[in-house]
Amino acid sequence: VNVLVTGATGKLGPHVVAALHARGVDVHATARDSRHAAEVLDPRTTFVAADFADTDVLAAELERADAVLLLTPHGPRMADTQCALIDLATKSRTRVVKVSGTSSGIRPDGPETCRQHHAAEQHLAQAEIPWAVVRPNAFMQTLLPAMAASIRDHGRISNPLGTAGLSLVDCADLGEAIATVLIDPAHQGCRHVLTGPTAPTFHEIAAAIAAETGKPVTVVDVTPSQAADAARARGLDAWEADHLQEMLALFAGGTAEDVTDDVRSLTGRAPRSVAEYIHEHRHLFVT
Ligand SMILES: NC(=O)c1ccc[n+]([C@@H]2O[C@H](COP(=O)([O-])OP(=O)(O)OC[C@H]3O[C@@H](n4cnc5c(N)ncnc54)[C@H](OP(=O)(O)O)[C@@H]3O)[C@@H](O)[C@H]2O)c1
Repeated sequence: VNVLVTGATGKLGPHVVAALHARGVDVHATARDSRHAAEVLDPRTTFVAADFADTDVLAAELERADAVLLLTPHGPRMADTQCALIDLATKSRTRVVKVSGTSSGIRPDGPETCRQHHAAEQHLAQAEIPWAVVRPNAFMQTLLPAMAASIRDHGRISNPLGTAGLSLVDCADLGEAIATVLIDPAHQGCRHVLTGPTAPTFHEIAAAIAAETGKPVTVVDVTPSQAADAARARGLDAWEADHLQEMLALFAGGTAEDVTDDVRSLTGRAPRSVAEYIHEHRHLFVT
């Protein structure tokens, strides 16, 4: 099987690439920065430096691929970028596996990023090519490292989710689950909802960090809007801060607590827990 992975060098892509190589797949991967690619991708990968706007390069890559992972960063034009790639894949008749986001938000009135995923999913479902969608919940690799600086410097975290849990998922499990969907055309038309094994609250995450480091962690309750203001004050740009606020508000409503069995059924084993992630990445949380 020949697989093309786009957006391959971010938080998720390298895990998918590694899982594909472990199954003997011939992997081509795209992103813009070759030096970064050499640092984060399995050396067996054929890396092709390309912007999403380089349609000739991408069309040639799609032509040789049996399946493509449609993975692009969030941003104001994510849906446009993804719909254009779906149109290119339709021309080459390449099977598309699209990475979406938190399932409960993917509706026409969800947070902006989820609305964009909804639009791109609709476009894909109408394209006349085989397709599958994976909807991962929030990545551990996004939220947990973001807590780490405040833990190291002040021994505390902000909690914008109140008593809501969040079924955070480890990108390593996503990589293995997504590799299965890329390799096996039997997932045609499926929308897999990928979560971790439990949905801890931020208080429970703080307790897990304290148990790992042996140091107390204080939890300070804030609103999603206060959390976004603090991020703006740290220099986060306006679009990202609005995105953060909308996603935190979605999570605080408790709709991202659902735990599914999809990772286990795709990989054959239970997904990693937050405690396991914290143990594996202990260095992030200690000074
Ligand atoms: N973060 C989460 O918790 C989470 C949860 C669920 C779903 N998602 C979804 O996952 C996707 C993001 O995945 P991620 O977090 O792995 O992304 P990421 O870390 O932001 O990585 C983005 C990747 O795209 C490449 N890229 C960026 N701009 C590009 C361009 N103009 N042309 C070509 N390549 C470009 C980047 O490499 P270069 O800069 O070198 O080009 C990099 O490989 C989004 O659709 C998001 O909604 C995220």
